[in-house]
Amino acid sequence: MDKIDIVREINRIRKEKNAVILAHYYQEPEIQDIADYVGDSLGLSQRAAETTADMIVFAGVHFMGETAKILNPDKIVLIPDLEAGCSLASSCPPDLFKEFIDAHPDHVVVTYINCSAEVKAMSDIVCTSSNAVKVIESIPKEKPIIFAPDKNLGKYIIKQTGREMLLWDGACVVHEAFSIDKLLTLYKDHPNATIIAHPESEEHILKTASYIGSTAGMINYVKDHPNREIIVATEVGILHEMQKQVPEATLIPAPVLEDNTCACSQCGYMKMNTLEKLYLCMKNDTPKIEISEAIRQKAIIPVNRMLSLS
Ligand code: 13P
Ligand code: SF4
Repeated sequence: MDKIDIVREINRIRKEKNAVILAHYYQEPEIQDIADYVGDSLGLSQRAAETTADMIVFAGVHFMGETAKILNPDKIVLIPDLEAGCSLASSCPPDLFKEFIDAHPDHVVVTYINCSAEVKAMSDIVCTSSNAVKVIESIPKEKPIIFAPDKNLGKYIIKQTGREMLLWDGACVVHEAFSIDKLLTLYKDHPNATIIAHPESEEHILKTASYIGSTAGMINYVKDHPNREIIVATEVGILHEMQKQVPEATLIPAPVLEDNTCACSQCGYMKMNTLEKLYLCMKNDTPKIEISEAIRQKAIIPVNRMLSLS
């Protein structure tokens, strides 16, 4: 089947099955273009919470589909490729995390949304990169905090809030791939450029940035700031929507340590989803996200706490 037929079929099935397609900014451009909504993790969770569709097709990674299923136990939630995981989620196995929180029973447990449903079920409140500071500031000052699984986001929040937090030792492979030496060289060649970065990046990268925020935050920043040359330190898929918003700007992906074909950072998990897999999952109603009801009932509490704060 060629691309035009796949697009036509996706549109037909979406109508027939009353499906909504939610896509993250790191998805392939053709997937973003066919989605009903493209957003960051918070925006996508909010859309998943309020949809009236019968079927949610989540063009993103597994933990995103799980969050949609936590919020919608009676809806079918599909993702194009069940193997589309996340290095942050897999850095935090539930059994080890349980040992960690059991060793610190007086701590409030805050987890970044990039973790499994089992880990969410052990949490007091969930956050995303766009509301992490707000979530931490909502916790009484005298309460000690565990933050997992992203140590880079954790360090950034500590700096922003002045709160001490016990950090889980996890990281995003995509955001740890940036090379500070190459970034500084690039900046020398583009001295008028503005550097913007996602807080999953390491501290030395964040120090160079004029703006730090979630994917949606980065897009909004670029829309609101007149600089026409921007170095973007996050997954390269974001450039598709960013360029649509600021067609006249020159967007330069931040360079990575290891040379690769795009000289940029790509999330291999996000890129496991293709337009064809999106079509096939909608046609065959599979792969479905399934979560045990016992886990779901625990996990929805910290997810709802986050949504009501946002
Ligand atoms: P946001 O889109 O919420 O900024 O998250 C980025 C990310 O890495 C998602 O996996
Ligand atoms: Fe996970 Fe990083 Fe990929 Fe986001 S970009 S899905 S945090 S590995």
